[in-house]
Amino acid sequence: MTRLPTNLHRLAAIACLLAAASAPARAADAALQVLHWWTSASERRAADVLARRLADEGIEWRDAAIPGGAGLGAAKVLRSRVLAQNAPEVNQIIGVSIREWAEMGLLLELDAVAANGQWANALFPTIHTLVRQRGHVVAAPLGIHRINTLHFNRAVFSRLGLAPPATWAEFEQIAPRLQAAGVQPLAQSSEPWQVATLFENLVLADGGAALYHELFVRHSVQALADPRLAQALLRLRGLKRWMGRPVQEQPWPELVRQLARGEAAMLVMGDWAKGELSDPRAGAADTDFGCITAPGTARYHLYSVDTLTMLAGDYQHSAAQATLARLIASPAVQAEYNLVKGSVTVRRDADPARMDICARQSWTAFGQAGAQQVPSLVHRMATDEASKDAIVAEVHRFFSNDEATPADAQRRLAAVFRALRSRTPQ
Ligand code: GAL
Repeated sequence: MTRLPTNLHRLAAIACLLAAASAPARAADAALQVLHWWTSASERRAADVLARRLADEGIEWRDAAIPGGAGLGAAKVLRSRVLAQNAPEVNQIIGVSIREWAEMGLLLELDAVAANGQWANALFPTIHTLVRQRGHVVAAPLGIHRINTLHFNRAVFSRLGLAPPATWAEFEQIAPRLQAAGVQPLAQSSEPWQVATLFENLVLADGGAALYHELFVRHSVQALADPRLAQALLRLRGLKRWMGRPVQEQPWPELVRQLARGEAAMLVMGDWAKGELSDPRAGAADTDFGCITAPGTARYHLYSVDTLTMLAGDYQHSAAQATLARLIASPAVQAEYNLVKGSVTVRRDADPARMDICARQSWTAFGQAGAQQVPSLVHRMATDEASKDAIVAEVHRFFSNDEATPADAQRRLAAVFRALRSRTPQ
């Protein structure tokens, strides 16, 4: 091996360092693995918006999509990959889970990105709070979904001369007419998270935001005895009459297709269903399908916020991770992404005139005094992953077993709440 003269050696080392510092992205930085659960056609399109914008910056989006609505599979894969020390650099971690991961010291702090982008002013206060932990920004916010959304097929309603229901009492009046016309009134899957999505809407309608908070945020055992909870449970059971028989376990995009084909008239589901119903850019979101607030919940915005977090790792990827975070919150990406995803922008400075009716209502209700914000249980906004799973399992058990009484469910939930409260500081 030829020995370089010492000076030359030093020069070569300096040249290497300079090259590394000035290159837009070194080989190791030029790709980011992204773990998420967006696998339906519209979710895919929304993820592709982000991948394209990232590619514009010379960074490759390496997709690690894990199927499974509401991210049940993705959460498990993430945990096992972290334990195997093989975690993706970017992860869809949302709601209270952000706090859990940040507390373990695993999330990259994005304070500089947030300061440069003036997130403190640009974002809705709830969003700015959600992405911070102990004063540091640890997540990049994508969009706000409204969970208390009733999607309906306009052609079915106009053919039968019906108006979509504002209350569950109105729903009960029109459901038999839809059924008589051979249309299933309500599309519904027996998947636990989908049953619980309907249920959290019912608790809000029957019990209001205060009872909802006592149950799903505070896990109050006393609140379980509230007769309005029993009423919501009975309503959940009663609604089975208007669903498929038996209620089958189906992924949510399949329910959206039933609604689109006019086999079912209505669907209570987060507004990602709107993204799937049509290409909102073509305007069909407003003409073929309507969306209004789920019965009895007009005063509330039951929300779920999608966020991406960056794992701290060995800091090799931090420049690329910061670039992705900056892009995500930028006005241009926010507008493009949310239009496809069915959600609304996390920014306060957007132009509602450019949104479809459903999005405009959601964004306005979230941002202005119009509606009270309520965090979704199913989508991890109200409580941590394990507590959410335990509550969802009990709701699903009650739904599946027609012999179970509300008192049985309340007793079982009380045991769950006691266990949860013993570990949660009040
Ligand atoms: C939510 C997520 C949405 C959508 C939905 C269905 O948790 O916030 O973006 O993907 O699950 O899987």
